[in-house]
Amino acid sequence: MITDDFDYLAPGGRSFTITSGLISKLNKRSRVLEIASGRGEAACALAGEFGCRVEGFDLDPNMVEYSRQKAEALGIPDLVSFDVIDGRDLDFGKGKYNLILAEGGALTYIGREDGVEKCAELLKDNGYLALTDLIYIKVDVDKRVRDVYEEGVYSYLNEIDYRKLLERNGLEIIHLSMVPQSAWDRYYISMRRKISSRLCKFTQEFKDAMANEIDVYYNWGGMESVGYVYIVAKKIPHDRRLAAGPEDLRISTVGSGYYQ
Ligand SMILES: C[S@@+](CC[C@H](N)C(=O)[O-])C[C@H]1O[C@@H](n2cnc3c(N)ncnc32)[C@H](O)[C@@H]1O
Repeated sequence: MITDDFDYLAPGGRSFTITSGLISKLNKRSRVLEIASGRGEAACALAGEFGCRVEGFDLDPNMVEYSRQKAEALGIPDLVSFDVIDGRDLDFGKGKYNLILAEGGALTYIGREDGVEKCAELLKDNGYLALTDLIYIKVDVDKRVRDVYEEGVYSYLNEIDYRKLLERNGLEIIHLSMVPQSAWDRYYISMRRKISSRLCKFTQEFKDAMANEIDVYYNWGGMESVGYVYIVAKKIPHDRRLAAGPEDLRISTVGSGYYQ
């Protein structure tokens, strides 16, 4: 099986990052911001592929140090920077970036409603927001599944509400798809390998939580309840925005069990 087995910490991977760069038509003059850049894989992929400048940040100083070393090793430290920043304090001015990358649930971690609003401000007109994030794909998600993915802190939308959130902020969806099952399998295989290794530096608490998450995903209905959505949305200039449409355009799904 061909997988996307790079240094990512969530379902998705390099092919999604590069697709986002292609849709955004990145070039050497482009500026990119990556929110919650983790191990720096996506930021380095974009700089390496398109020669653009990428500013990544993450809350975790170890992730930032690891990412800096990766950029050095790849010979692109002039193109990529990594800083320790809490995304909940995100405030870098207005209209600066051609692309904002928020992979691996970055918007979940920084607060989705606020985060999308700030991203819309930070983007140039006709700039792009590219994200992967967890969504619920059915109503009445079992408590056991909720407990694992919400961790008592986070909340998730369904696809329709994600669309509405982006559109409310002047972001037109250019592409929306679900990350395939193979990406979940790749992610969980690599996490299981990591937490089983004697060399693994994760805390015991994290290892136990990850082992439980994998069990709930495959054995307790997680797979039928959560999905990873991949969205690329374009910031429409104010004077070209359309008025909001009717609230509910959905065909009735009574009986299907999906969405509300
Ligand atoms: C699931 S990982 C995803 C990392 C990377 N985007 C990827 O796809 O591989 C989530 C990342 O969010 C970071 N994070 C969590 N809360 C954050 C916050 N408030 N501000 C910035 N980064 C945060 C974590 O340190 C971690 O690196």
